Amino acid sequence: MIVAIDGPAGSGKSSVAKAIAKELKLRHIDSGAMYRAVAWKSRELGIDLEDQERIAEVAQSIQIEFVPGEDKQEIAVDGKIVTSALRQEDIGIRASRVATQQRVRQALVARQQEIGQKGDVIMDGRDIGTVVFPDADIKIFLDASPEIRGQRRHLELNEQGDAPDRQEIIEDIRRRDDEDRNRKHSPLRPADDAVLIDTTGLELDRVIEKILQLIKTKRVQ
Ligand code: CDP
Repeated sequence: MIVAIDGPAGSGKSSVAKAIAKELKLRHIDSGAMYRAVAWKSRELGIDLEDQERIAEVAQSIQIEFVPGEDKQEIAVDGKIVTSALRQEDIGIRASRVATQQRVRQALVARQQEIGQKGDVIMDGRDIGTVVFPDADIKIFLDASPEIRGQRRHLELNEQGDAPDRQEIIEDIRRRDDEDRNRKHSPLRPADDAVLIDTTGLELDRVIEKILQLIKTKRVQ
C-alpha cells in the first residue's frame, strides 16, 4: 500500500499523513524533511546556494533517518537529532531553493523510491504522486488559501517557541508557493488522478476521516 499526499506549505500534509500512518500502521515519510535536511547540512557546512556541485554532494552523501519517538517522529541527520532545527522558517525557505536543483532532486527521489519498495508507506511532499510514486494506490492533493496556511504555520512556529510576524509568514508562504509551482524540475501540481481536497474550512479530523474513507473504498474495489 502506497499513499501519496502532496500540497503546498501549510496545507496540512504532514499532520494528516502522521494520523493516517498511525491508524493504518503505515510508515510515514515526510519528504520535505529530506530537502530541509540538505538545506540545513549545506548551511552548517557554509556552502553557498549557488554551488550546485557541493550541494548535490551533500544530497548524495547525507545520512537521513526517521526515528520513531514517543508521540512524534524525530529526524536524525548524520546521526544528530535535528527535528526542530529543520522546522525553522529560514530552513524552509532554503529548502525550496535547494529543491529547484535537479541533482538534489534526483538523489532524494532515488532514496524515496527505495523506501517505497518495502511498501506500506504514506509519503507527503510536492511531487510524490507525480514523480516519486506515479503508481501510488491513492493520491491526495491538499490545498487551502495562503492566509489560512500562513496562520497554521504561524501557530506551529509559535508552539515551537519562535515568534515570527504573521504577515511575514504569509508572505514567505506565497513566495515559496510561487517558487515550488513555477520551478523547472518537478513543479508542485496535482497528479491527474489525485483527489483534491481544499482544507480551508475543514478541521484536521474531517480531512483525516475523508482520506481514510477514500482508502477504505479503494481497498474494497
Ligand atoms: O512543511 P512545509 O510544507 O512548509 O514544507 P516541506 O514539506 O517541509 O518542504 C520544504 C520545501 O522542500 C518545499 O518548499 C519544497 O520546495 C521542497 N520539497 C520538494 O520540492 N519536494 C518534496 N517532495 C518535498 C519538499
